[in-house]
Formats: sequence, structure tokens, C-alpha cells
Amino acid sequence: MTALDLSSPVAVVGTGTMGQGIAQVALVAGHPVRLYDAAPGRARAAAAAIVARLDRLVEKDRLTAADLPHSRLRSSGGTPIAARARLLVAENLTDLADCALVVEAVLERLDVKQELFRALEDIVGDDCLLATNTSSLSVTAVGGALANPGRLVGLHFFNPAPLLPLVEVVSGFATDVTYATRAYETARAWGKTPVACADTPGFIVNRIARPFYAEAFAVYEAQGADPATIDAVLRECGGFRMGAFELTDLIGQDVNESVTRSVWESFFNDVRFTPSLAQRRLVESGRLGRKTGQGWYDYSDETGAAERSEPHTAEPGQRPAYVVAEGDLGPASELLQLIREAGIQVREDEEDHGTRLVLPSGGQLALADGQTSVEFRDVVYFDLALDYRRATRIALSASQDTAPQTLAEATGLFQALGKDVSIIGDVPGMIVARTVARIVDLAHDAVAKGVATEEDIDTAMRLGVNYPLGPFEWSRRLGRNWAYALLDDLHMRDPSGRYAPSLALYRHAYATDKREATS
Ligand SMILES: NC(=O)c1ccc[n+]([C@@H]2O[C@H](COP(=O)([O-])OP(=O)(O)OC[C@H]3O[C@@H](n4cnc5c(N)ncnc54)[C@H](O)[C@@H]3O)[C@@H](O)[C@H]2O)c1
Repeated sequence: MTALDLSSPVAVVGTGTMGQGIAQVALVAGHPVRLYDAAPGRARAAAAAIVARLDRLVEKDRLTAADLPHSRLRSSGGTPIAARARLLVAENLTDLADCALVVEAVLERLDVKQELFRALEDIVGDDCLLATNTSSLSVTAVGGALANPGRLVGLHFFNPAPLLPLVEVVSGFATDVTYATRAYETARAWGKTPVACADTPGFIVNRIARPFYAEAFAVYEAQGADPATIDAVLRECGGFRMGAFELTDLIGQDVNESVTRSVWESFFNDVRFTPSLAQRRLVESGRLGRKTGQGWYDYSDETGAAERSEPHTAEPGQRPAYVVAEGDLGPASELLQLIREAGIQVREDEEDHGTRLVLPSGGQLALADGQTSVEFRDVVYFDLALDYRRATRIALSASQDTAPQTLAEATGLFQALGKDVSIIGDVPGMIVARTVARIVDLAHDAVAKGVATEEDIDTAMRLGVNYPLGPFEWSRRLGRNWAYALLDDLHMRDPSGRYAPSLALYRHAYATDKREATS
């Protein structure tokens, strides 16, 4: 209802990668669009690039005149004439005086953005909405220099803006709710999926996604497994679209590290966001990922395909004839059904209240819980899977005290379920389990601190970084105190504070316990 009228001109200042994408979105939505860039000729080149992209989309029938409001007239086979006519290049900032919205996508520097908005304030009308596409600066700080900071919002698009639906609509400390709502509704009218977010380091996605990278790097630094194995476990067991090593190679190690550093520094060096030393060394060595031909993996092959070692996959183990189920396996309870379906007998032990499977050797198999195998006489841990039926790989960890027969039977059991098995080092919380627990924790913490709603966080993580489930959906599936218990165990073993569960997660788990105790 409060979205900008389509007849209102929208300006995009800074016409690089993001500016072009955002301008294309506004143009396709139906607005007159003005492009301005400080570098001579760049806005004109950007306009040509946008028209060329639209031409290609029209040629491939991926965009029709119906998708371009007010564009019934068509040029010969290309972008409708009316859409072209709506796209203008501004020679000076003063040409933006009649705009109802200015989206800034210039250099990621506070002084540059502040100076730009100060200049714009003297040019545009009093009611013009000002938006910054900053990904790491404080929206409050960007607006801090303005006479009316109430009309400045963060409109954080993701790259490529025409394709990715998510837009984080960020309210700075001084942002007026009327302007934030207008920005939100306008993003929605443009066909995007907006989520509302307070001004916090990393906003929603870049804040809550940090452990996805950090925990993979931590397992590697602890010599738990090599990148190819960790990536394979995250994909094939955790259900993530890509592993952390291949994804950061795609993003660029320098870009990914600088987001991590910025979030960490903005949180006054909060240990939960500490960057990775291994990644630092990679950046220092110039191995920035695909763009330099070498990152965690080697891309020097002419096709650009990654030369990577195969994930560790265990040789055939020993299929056990039966297992004894002690207590409730919690998020892994589906395994019992899969084991039965594989023709392996499951004996239920009514007496014991552990959460383990006992193998014929007498050794035990337990879901990763934040403890290490070395603390028990003879135990093998298995990792958390998004879906045990669909998972094609499972990670197991054992200590030097684990009997070889126990490991052989644990391996054989999962192989009998049709899974590849990766045996990794004795890493508490394994790979997927610790990653998911930390993401769930940061999500609870963010809600408790007023960053966003549970629903918006789930939407942001699914659309912004392609997670198979939002953190709260995942948390509900896992049981309300699963993440708390795992992190509490990890925190005991690594008391640096990195794994300390948040007060919000504690409250969540405690409230459940109390309800269960009184019911
Ligand atoms: N690239 C991404 O994936 C991504 C994603 C989300 C947000 N962002 C943010 O978007 C912004 C732009 O990023 P980008 O990747 O498009 O950068 P880019 O380098 O591709 O483009 C920046 C453009 O801004 C112009 N410019 C610089 N100073 C200017 C000024 N004072 N006035 C007008 N034009 C100016 C430059 O000439 C250049 O054309 C940054 O704040 C960045 O953090 C980037």
C-alpha cells in the first residue's frame, strides 16, 4: 500500500555490479530510472549493459512485454522501447532532484557514502527515500551525517540482484518507520522478498551464516579432515547446497574473510565471530579462489573445473547382525527404521536411558553431542544429517582408544544403509552438528536482541544463502534443547567463549525443561 508509485523516478548512484542489477530491477518493475556514477562514462556504459541484458532476456523469451509495465511498444526483437526510454543517464547529481528514491551502490567506504548522502539531501525533495546498499557498514553511521537521518534505510540486495529474491530492509537507529515500510513495500512490489532487520553487524544473513564457514575451517585447522571431505559431509549429510571450502572459493577468500573480519570487529572482537587463521594464510598467499585459479582447491585446469582430492571414503566395514538401541536417539531416531529396513535386527533396551546404539562388539555408536570419543571407553560418533534417509554420506569419528572392531562395525552399519562413510578425526561436535548448533544459537540470539523475527530469519537464510532449512525450522526438528546441550558440552571442552550458548538459547532450552518437568 505504501510502495512507491510506478510513475515515481528511482535513481541508482554507483553503477557497478550492484547498481546495474538494482537499476534493472526497478526498470523492469516499471519505474523511470536515472543512473549516476562519479566515474565519467560509467553510467552510460551501465545503461547500455542493462539494455543488452534485457535484450538477451527478451530474445530468450525469459522476459516479455507483459513483464515490463508501460512497455507495449517493442523495438525490433529487443527491449521494449518504453523501457529503454525510461532509463536515463544523469550527468550530475542535481539531475536526480525529482526522484522519489535514491539507492546508493557506491564504494564500500563510510566517508564516501556519507558525503554522497549529504550532497543528495540538498538536491532531492524532503520526502525522497534514501537507501544504502551497504553490506557491512552501519546504516546508522551512514545516516549519521544527515540533517534528516529518519529517511535513510538499508536496502541490502544480493548479487546478482535481478535473480536473487532476498532484500534485507535495514532500519538504522534513527530510521523512521514510515520510510522503512515504504522501502519494504517497494521491494515487495518489485517482486523481491523483503525481510525487516535492525541495524546490526552483518544484518541477518552475514551475521548468522558466519559459523557455516568458521566451523568448517576450525575442523580443518584441528586436523579433523581435509577440505574435500568436510565439503562432501556438509553437502551429502548436512544437505547444504555447497561445502564451505568450495563456496568461499567461489565468493573469493578475500571477500569472505573481509565480511568475517568486519562482523567480528563490529562486535568488538566477540570471540564467536573470530576469523580463521587458515583462511588468513590463504589470503596472504594470494590464493583467493576461482578468480586467481587457486584457493582451497586448484582451478588451474583450462576448463576452470576444480582439481580436488576425493573426499575420504572408507573401505567396506563389517555389517553387524544386530544393534541394541539404548534410549532415544533424538534427531537420529529415524535411523532405527532404516536399520530395520536394511535387514539388521534392532533390539530395544528398555532398561538403559542412554542415547546410543550398542554394536555386537560391545562398542557404542552415538550422535555427535559435543563430547569427544576419547572420554569414553569405546565409542564412535556419527554426524547429524539433515535427513538420514536421503543422506548419501555420513561422517564417523573415533579416538585412538576406539576398538578397531567397533569402528569396522559402525562403518559397516552405515554402508548397509547405502551410505558412503567418511572417517574423520576425534572432533567434538563433528562437522554438521556443531555447524547447525551454532547457526541455531546465533539465530535465537538475534531474535532476542531484536534483529529480526524468527520467520524473517528463516526466510533470509533459505533465500540468502540457500540453507535447506531456516535455523528455527531446523531447531524445531532437532528438539528444543538439542543445540543448547551440544554447545554447552563444546563450551566445556573449549572454554574460549566461542561455543558458549547464548542466554536466549539457554532460556529456550530451560523453558522446555520446566514445561516437561511440570507436565
Ligand atoms: N558485490 C556484491 O556482491 C555486493 C552485494 C551486496 C552489497 N554490495 C555493496 O554494494 C556497493 C557497491 O558494490 P559493487 O560490488 O557494485 O561495487 P563496484 O565497484 O562494482 O561499483 C561501484 C561503483 O560506484 C562508483 N562510485 C564510487 N564512488 C562514487 C561516488 N562517490 N559517487 C558515485 N559513484 C561512485 C564507481 O565508479 C563504481 O562504478 C558496496 O557498498 C557493496 O558493499 C555489494
